[in-house]
This record gives sequence, C-alpha cells and structure tokens, in this order.
Amino acid sequence: SSTVTDSKNLRVKLVLLGDSGVGKSCIVLRFVRGQFDPSSKVTVGASFLSQTLALQDSTTVKFEIWDTAGQERYAALAPLYYRGAAVAVVVYDITSPESFSKAQYWVKELQKHGSPDIVMALVGNKADLHENRSVSAQDALEYAEKNGMFFIETSAKTADNINQLFEEIAKRLP
Ligand code: GTP
Ligand code: MG
Repeated sequence: SSTVTDSKNLRVKLVLLGDSGVGKSCIVLRFVRGQFDPSSKVTVGASFLSQTLALQDSTTVKFEIWDTAGQERYAALAPLYYRGAAVAVVVYDITSPESFSKAQYWVKELQKHGSPDIVMALVGNKADLHENRSVSAQDALEYAEKNGMFFIETSAKTADNINQLFEEIAKRLP
C-alpha cells in the first residue's frame, strides 16, 4: 500500500528591519549560506536573497528575504520593502539599548503601515556577547508578548537559534 502525502509549497515575502550594525545581514548570510562574515559591510539600500526551508510535513517555504539598510539615511526606503510583506523580523543587538529602542520604533511603524495580518518576530542578536548584555531577555519577551510578536535570541556568529528563528516563523504562517 502507499500513503498519499499532502505537500504544500509556500512563498513568503520577509523583511528584516533594525538599527545599523545589529547583524541583519549576518543573520541572512548564516541562514542562506551557513557562513559568518566578521567584517560584514553596511548594507546600501537593501539586498535580496531567497532560501527554501523544508518542514517535516513535506511543506516547503520559500523565504524571499529583503535585508534592509539600517543606517538612518535609508529609513525612508523601508516602506518599499515592508509593504506587502507577510513576515517582518525586527532585530536588535542585546548589548545595545539604543538598538532595542529602534526596534520598538519599527514595531510601531509596522503596526501603523504594515499588512494587518503580518507575522512579526523580535530578534535579540549577538547572544554570544552575553557578558556585555544590556537588554534583558525578560524585558524583550514582555514587550514582544504585548505586541503579539514571537521572540527569540540568536547569534549569527555561532549560528545559535538561526534556523529555529525561520522554523518558528514558518509555523506561524497563516
Ligand atoms: P546595516 O546593513 O548597516 O543595517 O547593518 P546590519 O544589521 O546588516 O549588520 P551586519 O550584519 O553587517 O553586522 C554588523 C557587525 O556585527 C559585523 O561586524 C558583524 O560581524 C557583527 N555581528 C553580526 N552578528 C553578530 C553576532 O551574532 N555576534 C557577534 N559577536 N557579532 C555579530
Ligand atoms: Mg546589512
């Protein structure tokens, strides 16, 4: 006998937002190529990459990833990338309270102008630098829960929780 399995192929537009230097491009590079670049260059405008994730139930999710530039001079471009996005990943650096404030700014922006059913993740990156932590995981978790977001801490450097981030997003897709 044979088993008929359902398979689904989803395509998902995902945007990364957050302050310059928090590690957005490194998270994408780790997820897409399994690499880390300690001398990563600041992103100009935005960059695009895609990666397909196979889930256990034979569903595949193709993430079409817009990695935006965090420098202030590019802030006005952000709506071009988050408009129509199904997923927004808002990143801060756990050693930088300023970057956590900036993350909250992006969350408000997405609540005002993003898709009403957008899936949002709050990501505290550079978890390997825990000795210099200045944003508590508890505060970030509370903020995320209050705003209906999923929260995770990652390290693009060590790869900690990078795949989990995208797997958790896939689980939350409508
Ligand atoms: P913009 O493109 O300007 O918005 O910055 P970005 O958020 O894309 O930052 P990027 O990924 O270029 O990383 C900035 C710096 O942080 C680089 O020097 C990286 O090597 C470093 N970095 C990124 N992720 C991590 C991490 O998880 N741990 C540590 N220790 N350093 C990291
Ligand atoms: Mg970048």
